[in-house]
Amino acid sequence: MKKAIVIGATSGIGKSITEILIQNGYEVGITGRRVDRLQSLKEKNPDKIYYCQMDVQDVSIVDSICNNLVDQLGGLDLFIISSGIGDENKLLDFSIENNVIKTNVQGFTCIAVWVMNYFKKQRHGHLVSISSIAGLIGNGEAPSYNATKAFQINYLEGLRLNAYKSSVDIHVTDVRPGFVDTDMAKGEGMFWVAPVEKAAQQIFTAIKRKRKVVYITKRWRMIGFLLKIMPYSLLRKM
Ligand SMILES: NC(=O)c1ccc[n+]([C@@H]2O[C@H](COP(=O)([O-])OP(=O)(O)OC[C@H]3O[C@@H](n4cnc5c(N)ncnc54)[C@H](OP(=O)(O)O)[C@@H]3O)[C@@H](O)[C@H]2O)c1
Repeated sequence: MKKAIVIGATSGIGKSITEILIQNGYEVGITGRRVDRLQSLKEKNPDKIYYCQMDVQDVSIVDSICNNLVDQLGGLDLFIISSGIGDENKLLDFSIENNVIKTNVQGFTCIAVWVMNYFKKQRHGHLVSISSIAGLIGNGEAPSYNATKAFQINYLEGLRLNAYKSSVDIHVTDVRPGFVDTDMAKGEGMFWVAPVEKAAQQIFTAIKRKRKVVYITKRWRMIGFLLKIMPYSLLRKM
């Protein structure tokens, strides 16, 4: 039986992917801060789910919690990082920016480093992380969100190259959603908002195909291309 860990499985994309993995015969270790939600996922699938409460901002506990989940699972094939936050911050309050950075950069990096070192030791594995199409451009209303997603995109590419140079069978998939209907996707001006189950199903297909980069849903690939070539005069109007 295949073994997976999902970080940020208490809601949204992480929860939906967890459910798809269970339907496809995986045993899954899950984390998040809201322990009642972890418990209720466990109750629905008592033999298939193991959980540990974890705040990704507390990097001192990442090693022990990940090791604990792997021990309970009895191995690890797939690791998905879906934890993430974003906040509007037009007035540029540093505490808001710092909170986003601690989750999306510091916590993310600590977890990604743990998993890559684990996979390098066993010489195989698959890391999947949910970045965002937002990482392709700056954002005047939530600067830290887009900037941290740009960091993730670049870091995941670095990890993929690192694995390649180490001659190990490790795959790294960077998932770049547009808008997905979750707690995070609030506010105005959203379009092409995908149901979370549809997004998670497309992510699972990309995992099976071991894709390097995938836009979710598929039509966002075109937006991704346009964002990369968009002139600054247009970006200012967004
Ligand atoms: N929805 C979209 O439109 C969209 C678009 C592009 C990218 N994304 C990315 O997709 C990922 C998943 O987001 P979502 O849309 O599924 O939103 P969500 O429903 O709010 O899920 C976020 C998950 O992250 C976890 N999390 C947040 N802060 C954490 C912390 N400090 N420690 C541990 N876990 C933490 C939450 O768990 P707890 O609160 O229980 O800790 C929750 O399980 C995020 O990285 C987001 O940036 C979303």
